[in-house]
Amino acid sequence: MRPLGHAGKGPHMTFKPAQWPRKLRSQEWFGGASKDSIYHRGWMKNQGFPHDLFDGRPVIGILNTWSELTPCNAHLRDLAERVKRGVYEAGGFPVEVPVFSASESAFRPTAMMFRNIAAMSVEEQIRGQPMDGVVLLGGCDKTTPSLLMGAASCDLPAIVVSGGPMLNGYFRGERVGSGTHLWRFSEAVKAGNMTTDEFVEAEASMSRSPGSCNTMGTASTMASMAEALGMALSGNAAIPAVDSRRRVMAHNSGRRIVQMVKDDLKPSDVMTKQAFENAIRTNAAIGGSTNAVIHLLAIAGRVGVDLTLDDWDRCGRDVPTIVNLMPSGEYLMEEFFYAGGLPVVIKRLGEAGLLHKDAITVSGGPMWDEVKDVENQNPDVILPAEKALAKSGGVVVVKGNLAPGGAVLKPSAATPALMQHRGRAVVFEDIDHYKARIADDDLDIDETCVMVLKNCGPKGYPGMAEVGNMGLPPKVLKKGITDMVRISDARMSGTAYGTVVLHTSPEAAAGGPLAVVRDGDMIELDVANRRLHLDISDEEMAARLAEWTPIHIEAESGYLWLHQAHVQGADTGADLDFLKGCRGAPVGKDSH
Ligand code: FES
Repeated sequence: MRPLGHAGKGPHMTFKPAQWPRKLRSQEWFGGASKDSIYHRGWMKNQGFPHDLFDGRPVIGILNTWSELTPCNAHLRDLAERVKRGVYEAGGFPVEVPVFSASESAFRPTAMMFRNIAAMSVEEQIRGQPMDGVVLLGGCDKTTPSLLMGAASCDLPAIVVSGGPMLNGYFRGERVGSGTHLWRFSEAVKAGNMTTDEFVEAEASMSRSPGSCNTMGTASTMASMAEALGMALSGNAAIPAVDSRRRVMAHNSGRRIVQMVKDDLKPSDVMTKQAFENAIRTNAAIGGSTNAVIHLLAIAGRVGVDLTLDDWDRCGRDVPTIVNLMPSGEYLMEEFFYAGGLPVVIKRLGEAGLLHKDAITVSGGPMWDEVKDVENQNPDVILPAEKALAKSGGVVVVKGNLAPGGAVLKPSAATPALMQHRGRAVVFEDIDHYKARIADDDLDIDETCVMVLKNCGPKGYPGMAEVGNMGLPPKVLKKGITDMVRISDARMSGTAYGTVVLHTSPEAAAGGPLAVVRDGDMIELDVANRRLHLDISDEEMAARLAEWTPIHIEAESGYLWLHQAHVQGADTGADLDFLKGCRGAPVGKDSH
């Protein structure tokens, strides 16, 4: 069995490496003895770099989303040092470069509003500077997709190194998952089953080590997506942040990127349609976050792969969820790593005929070679198919007159009995309306109703906040009810759960049908038949849409204006319209 984080075994027959040696892009800055090259090179020497580092060897940008306000990535400078060791060892020249870090836990109104500007920061840092290949250092939810989107638009050789998850949390003897227990404890407080003091006491137990969320939330999902796409070395996703093997992974990735530059193995060679289909099936098998839908659509849009919501539904069908991790299951990322991590899951997909085995990874070889020899070390964590958490665990795409562009639901996090449901709508016009009404004992709502939240999509919130799993009314919670059907144009945290229909497209703020749902309307959700229906006539729908006027305020300046004016719908990845596509990395003009 190959050790985790090996540095690859060289080119595969289906990928034809470029000739080496050849002149690299960075030589346009550092090569020769012109005034310009001395300016570029000489100034770099103030850091003590010897002259021979500028001799035409691969210059590797280590794009670092480190920030003390992105706590999940606060340890990445240490990993960058490990990457540098590997790059030097392989004959490259590493340079660490900070890029925009969109912190999930700190950014307002929501980190998602900044994913696209972060991707723009990555793209322009690469394109405008002397780099031949890049190592993408991310971890927290939006950092991984923003790095992949920016790198895809430049298409220089790139490899992902994740920061890794936090160690398990424990509170009073019980496993505590990042995010998942935040929702659980919060609802327990509302239901009167936990005191506020206990809630505060639990806080520190959730985050007891460096790293990203330890559940199969969006951070772990996106690390898994990077690995399943083939953009990270095998085993990258699950190694805990503080495990010494995380440093080995970084070191080996540093070695590997140098060879990738020599071979000219680019994101467009790795992130093919087949790679995306592998990732979608992997997401179903791990019970991954619904946020992966939006991020993969956006990444595909950058690399020029035609990926749609229908691909999500088609590929995810009949893939069982076999990873028993919160929020769908009971364990955490630390145990997933000990069980063998993502390579075991990918091998299982391959054995079931659900993997494009030949898809090339950053190793230079086919995906199957990376996983075929691994073994499951814990069948309670990576379950046999007959014990799957959900037989069909793929993200479901429902459509109908309420969501002509589609909406998504995560079956492994939903209540089976609610997946076919007809109920009376209780409508919240926006998140403030929800907050103002939800605890009102006079609110006409019970557990058979369908909660509808509007104006929380990419334009409306703005940024598409993770509020789709809106908490249940306290008076319903007090009856011991833990789930209701909820529908919105928002997202949901990957650590959350419930029968929650998300990303309803077009969003309310763009005049989608969600905007005209009224209190008392009847709504039908039929997951088996992929249907989401507002029970009004076509004429009534047309009349309501004709009367509709937006309630959200358009910004007049700044990034907020740019975002609202150009963001696309969730059904195509919520990227900015002018950022779609691969623009390459031309060296441009020198201005000196
Ligand atoms: Fe950063 Fe969860 S808040 S990974």
